[in-house]
Amino acid sequence: MYSSKITGLGFYVPENIVTNDDLSKMMDTNDEWIQERTGIKERRWIKEGSGDSTSVMGAKAARKAIERAGLTKDDIDFIVFATLSPDMYFPGGGVEIQEMLEMPTIGALDVRNQCSGFVYAMSVADQFIKTGMYKNILVIGSENHSGGLDKTTRGRNVSVIFGDGAGAVVLSRSEEEGKGILSTHLHSEGKHAKELVLEGPSTGRWVPEIIENNDPDDISYYPYMNGQFVFKHAVTRFSEAILEGLEKNGLKPDDIDLLVPHQANLRIAQFIQKKFKLNDDQVYNNIMYYGNTTAASVVIALSEAWEKGKIKDNDLVVLAAFGSGFTWGSVFIRW
Ligand code: ACO
Repeated sequence: MYSSKITGLGFYVPENIVTNDDLSKMMDTNDEWIQERTGIKERRWIKEGSGDSTSVMGAKAARKAIERAGLTKDDIDFIVFATLSPDMYFPGGGVEIQEMLEMPTIGALDVRNQCSGFVYAMSVADQFIKTGMYKNILVIGSENHSGGLDKTTRGRNVSVIFGDGAGAVVLSRSEEEGKGILSTHLHSEGKHAKELVLEGPSTGRWVPEIIENNDPDDISYYPYMNGQFVFKHAVTRFSEAILEGLEKNGLKPDDIDLLVPHQANLRIAQFIQKKFKLNDDQVYNNIMYYGNTTAASVVIALSEAWEKGKIKDNDLVVLAAFGSGFTWGSVFIRW
């Protein structure tokens, strides 16, 4: 049986920096509240007219990943694209990437698992490689949150958290034993679907119905989050996903060289760090500068950590995520 390893990675974020002070001009919020509760100092939001979109950013990150893998677009056999903010209701973003990168008619699959999207996408790609079906898979996470947030005081508990950006990796077939993806672990608990949700537009909350009701209090087309409820579940599920991978691979927390947690809230990452007694060098966070970029967050952080030389050959790298669904999971990698 083959294993899969990351051979190239890259990320792209829009140039436009939005600071907490910028947000305080749009809504009743302030830098102190945002930093204290979330750790976020600034985020990137797509500037109107820049041409960026979820798929455009995904394609930019993907080009870097392919080049760094020493491959060309024609070497890619399959695309797995994770996002909750696709350019179109349908089709998904994967086919847009296939077209933007002028790739041959390879398959493209979209993953709809919000903040766990990239972890799920990596697991899907890993299975295709292990079975021998594909050799090189492009795995992308990309989000355009700024296009769909309530940027008034009404939406402040959600809108100050989210940022735009994309990241991508090339996952390639490997025959090196004990290297690459060691295991992946995926979970969900749909009973909490409505605790972190964007209901409409959807077939359950269709546009004509929203327009017809003309209800100024109907904000079902903006994201809703029960923040404290999500926070409590996040810390528990993050820990479980990491423990599960450690047990499966016969490892201890101290064996982790780099934990790359989903950048949901710096307080969540700090809680996990303390729980597993990891030092600062064992955890990579960049939510301070990008906010929560959902399906892109883990891969942006992984790429940035790699660019900064924080990942060495043979390191144990752990990716972990939790988000809307609820969904959560982890990926254990021997680099
Ligand atoms: N600025 C100023 N005040 C605010 C803001 C803001 N942006 N937002 C909320 N407040 C106020 C509230 O109105 C409330 O005021 P009150 O006490 O007078 O009623 C007060 O601040 C406290 O609000 P809480 O919601 O209780 O604040 P909390 O400490 O829980 O922080 C947060 C909110 C940051 C959202 C936190 O709950 C959190 O991070 N939750 C988890 C997020 C997460 O993990 N999401 C998963 C991934 S996302 C995905 O999957 C798409």
